[in-house]
Amino acid sequence: MPARVVTITNRKGGVGKSTLAVLLVQYLASQGHRVLAVDLDVQGDFSRPLIASGKCVVSETTSERVLTDPEATVEDAPFVLMREDELALSELERHPELYNDFAKNMRRFMRRHAEAFDFIVIDTNPVQDIRVLAAMVSSDYVLSPITLTKEALEGIRALFNDPRTGVFVVQENYNRKLQFLGMLPVMVDERNAVDRECLAALLGAPDYRKHLLSFVDEPTSGRDFLKIKHRTIWRAFHESGAVLWEQKSGPAREVWAEVEPVMQRIAQLMGAK
Ligand SMILES: Nc1ncnc2c1ncn2[C@@H]1O[C@H](COP(=O)(O)OP(=O)(O)OP(=O)(O)O)[C@@H](O)[C@H]1O
Ligand SMILES: [Mg+2]
Repeated sequence: MPARVVTITNRKGGVGKSTLAVLLVQYLASQGHRVLAVDLDVQGDFSRPLIASGKCVVSETTSERVLTDPEATVEDAPFVLMREDELALSELERHPELYNDFAKNMRRFMRRHAEAFDFIVIDTNPVQDIRVLAAMVSSDYVLSPITLTKEALEGIRALFNDPRTGVFVVQENYNRKLQFLGMLPVMVDERNAVDRECLAALLGAPDYRKHLLSFVDEPTSGRDFLKIKHRTIWRAFHESGAVLWEQKSGPAREVWAEVEPVMQRIAQLMGAK
């Protein structure tokens, strides 16, 4: 089966994109899948933990080359990271005359590496620029973590239908095979009234509800939907790159018990065996 390419995106900053990206690639790699991690954000929040973990090969090729170099390649290894080059990535937006080439190069890169990997996971920047657009144009799936705040809910329309980078706009105009895996509420604290209200609002709006990730194809209750709870240990984990399920501490084990079924389902929805 050719590599399945997934872009993790949400225009809102700090909603847990990079945290989810790290967890997902670590999980997929641990299941024996060949994984390529591509960090398109200048902040390097995907790269830093993966480098710190020492579990992947850090490619000599930095991520902007996926867009700029029609012949870019990566090392042949089971788990590879293309890290960010801050200056080179920032430069891309300044060349609108090359946007088409960027998207074309990225699409071709994915095709060239379709046999080398099982999954290619792309973490993106919160500003919806050519990097995010090229990533979606080149992907099979989009996955969007969301937080349960009023502003986040208001941002969903744009996530879906922004004239430039809305998931359904890209699907319609550039990439018919793009599938919206769905929205995944993260940092959920159901003791908090705002979280509960926002969750109820999402579940109560059919247009939103059908795009929430669920454990079963026909969800009937709130428990059928995927979510990741707010837990303070995430911050430390993210920075260290430590693998959650390799930890002995009680809180780490508890968190892993919560997120393992979430990772399993996401992998299953992307066709993992
Ligand atoms: N489930 C969680 N519980 C508690 N904190 C979390 C959780 N998930 C992520 N965080 C924390 O939230 C912060 C933002 O997360 P992250 O960097 O993944 O967001 P992001 O969407 O990638 O941000 P940006 O838009 O800047 O790229 C980090 O400090 C992270 O550790
Ligand atoms: Mg990030």
